[in-house]
Amino acid sequence: MRYPIYRPRRIREQEHLRRMVRETRLSVDHFIYPLFVVPGTGVRQEIQSMPGNFHLSVDRLLEEVKEAQDLGIPAIILFGLPERKDAVGSAGYADDGIIPRAVSALKKAVPGMTVITDVCLCEYTSHGHCGMVEGEHVLNDASVELLAKASLAYVRAGADMVAPSDMMDGRVQAIRQVLDSAGFSHIPIMSYAAKYASSFYGPFREAADSAPQFGDRRSYQMDPANSQEAMREVRLDIEEGADIIMVKPALPYLDIIYRVKQTFDLPVAAYNVSGEYAMIKAAAMQGWIDGERVMLEALLSIRRAGADMILTYFAKDAARSLASSRI
Ligand code: PBG
Repeated sequence: MRYPIYRPRRIREQEHLRRMVRETRLSVDHFIYPLFVVPGTGVRQEIQSMPGNFHLSVDRLLEEVKEAQDLGIPAIILFGLPERKDAVGSAGYADDGIIPRAVSALKKAVPGMTVITDVCLCEYTSHGHCGMVEGEHVLNDASVELLAKASLAYVRAGADMVAPSDMMDGRVQAIRQVLDSAGFSHIPIMSYAAKYASSFYGPFREAADSAPQFGDRRSYQMDPANSQEAMREVRLDIEEGADIIMVKPALPYLDIIYRVKQTFDLPVAAYNVSGEYAMIKAAAMQGWIDGERVMLEALLSIRRAGADMILTYFAKDAARSLASSRI
C-alpha cells in the first residue's frame, strides 16, 4: 500500500478550504474592553506601560466607549481611580463615587453598551490591598461586606454586570444575596474565580495605582503552581451563584482555561492581562515581532483553550484587524 493514504496538507492548500475547516473563531463578539476612569474633566492621558490605553475622565470615557461601540465591541469593564483613598476604601462603595458616576453617564450616553464593573477595593484603599486589613492581615468577612456594598452601588447606578476580582472567600454568595434582596436578581455576576497572584499585573497596578503598600497578594490570590485548586475555586463560585467564571491571567494559564472549560458548563471568561499586553506591544514597537499578527494569534489561542470571552486591552485593535480584509 502506498503511504501516506491520508495527507493532511490536502485541506490546507486553499484559503477557502482552510476557512471551511477552521475550528476556532475569533470575533469582536468575544471582547470585553477594560477602561480606567479618573476624576476631573477633559482627561485623556496615556498609560505609559500600556500604549494605546488611557486614564479617562467621565466625559472622555463616553467618547471612548462610543468608539468601541462603533467597532462592534459588546462590553466594557470599568476600573475607577478615586479622588481619595482611605484604610477602608470608602470611595469604592460611595453612591456618588467615580464608578457610579461613570456608569450612570454611560447608560445615558451609550445605551447599547454592556457595562460591567470590576469590584475590588485595591484602587480605593490607602494600603492597596483588596480588602480591609488588621495589622498586616487582610480580613475576609469584613471585606466581603464592603464588596457587596460596592456591587449594590454600581448596580443601582445602572451596571449591567458586576465582576468581583478581590478573591475573598464567599464574596459571590454575599453579592448575590445583597443584589437579590435589593431587587436585582436579574443582574449577572462574572467572578474572577481562578485568579492567580501574578507578576503579569504590573502595568495595571501602575495604571490603577493599586500596588500593595506592604506584603503581596499571595494570602488571597492563587499560587501559580496550582491547578487542582483552581477547580475548587471555580466550583465554589458556581455554587455561590456565579454566572460567568473567569480565569486570570490568560496566556500563561491556558491549561487552566482548558481544564475549567472541560470541567464546568458555565461560560468562561479569560483576562488577557496588562503584562501580556505590554510585552506584545513593547516587542512590536521595537520591530521585533509583527504586533498585529501576534495579537491575533494570542487572542485566538485563548479562544482555542476554551474561553468564551476575553477581557483584553487589544479589543479595539483586534476589532479593527478583524474587520479589515488584510488578515
Ligand atoms: C484588582 C485587579 C487587578 C487586575 C484586575 N483587577 C490587579 C491585582 O489583582 O493586583 C489586573 C488586571 C491586569 O493586569 O490587566 N484586584
